Amino acid sequence: MKYKIAVLSGDGIGPEVTKESEKILGSISEKFGHQFEYDYQEVGGVSIDKNGVAITEEALGSCLENQAVLFGSVGGPKWDDPNSEIRPEDGILKLRKQLDLFANIRPAKVYKSLIDSSPLKREILEDVDFIIIRELTSGLYFGEPKKRWKDNGKRIAVDTLKYDEDEIRRVVKVGFEMAKKRKKVLHSLDKMNVMATSRLWREIAEEVSSEYPEVELIHMLADNAAMQIITSPSIFDVIVTENTFGDILSDEAAVIGGSMGMLPSASLSSIPGSNENNSSKPALYEPIHGSAPDISGKGLANPVASVLSTAMMLRWSFGLDEEASCIESAIDELIESGARTKDISLASEEFLSTQEMGDKIVSKILNNE
Ligand code: IPM
Ligand code: MN
Repeated sequence: MKYKIAVLSGDGIGPEVTKESEKILGSISEKFGHQFEYDYQEVGGVSIDKNGVAITEEALGSCLENQAVLFGSVGGPKWDDPNSEIRPEDGILKLRKQLDLFANIRPAKVYKSLIDSSPLKREILEDVDFIIIRELTSGLYFGEPKKRWKDNGKRIAVDTLKYDEDEIRRVVKVGFEMAKKRKKVLHSLDKMNVMATSRLWREIAEEVSSEYPEVELIHMLADNAAMQIITSPSIFDVIVTENTFGDILSDEAAVIGGSMGMLPSASLSSIPGSNENNSSKPALYEPIHGSAPDISGKGLANPVASVLSTAMMLRWSFGLDEEASCIESAIDELIESGARTKDISLASEEFLSTQEMGDKIVSKILNNE
């Protein structure tokens, strides 16, 4: 089969890690006989420099024509002027909105052999393996009004937190569908003690829960959850929450395992496992880490997050389960047997470059039965 992928590698380490993902797809083609076709488009700072905008209409249009989008990262000090009207991040926000990527899936997994790279104690981290589902196309990120102005010389700004019931229902359903296939416990996070949107969120979550009697729904305040992620992360299996809470908590969850360089993400426009809300729009896959300008161009980036995002693409966009598992077990084996990039190595340890780690993954894939 032939699969068409839009590749938007962006800024900083984005291009370096995306290149390794393509290399890994090359080994998957070789082993399983698929064909992957790439459509390269610009996004972020590179697009601002060249086209004056963080993503062009043409680039957005061609994303829609592919079956999936592989995204690197955007941003860097060069484009960080807070007074600038155009920001690299606008590129990813536009993509999320235009592709209707309402469900962002962020796994927080702790590799046993990396526990010592984590800032948390070993006992706390044993058996930690949960996923955060973050609403991605509404809430504070997109609500209107969103602006800043002056009143009698005083500077004022506003962002708007708004959700309608359909936006809540579809993402909560993703939570239930995932929970159904895992440990059958779903934590829904909100701030219902303060916010109207959170009270609506809770009400809708309760309504949806009647369609999933096999799944236990637990509501938790988001601030309490922030604490529990540190003190007892193993209580979680699937978490669903709104855009901003999900943004903050998923960064928190990503570091407990030791490195953001290990964690992938998928952004979907339909509910996996359900026929409802089926979308023909491509899903987007990206590492959780950002553009890391301090290490870019030095071969120090860990390609694993991008490669695992590519595995998620194979599974969810193309239905290639075996191929996805083949990548995931190659990485598991390599990490457990001591392969390290700089971010996950201890101070005195030897480490592999971005490319060398990519090569190791390739040979593991080709040599594994
Ligand atoms: C993320 C990032 C983005 C966000 C930025 C780059 C706009 O932090 O994907 O979590 O805030 O959503
Ligand atoms: Mn973030």
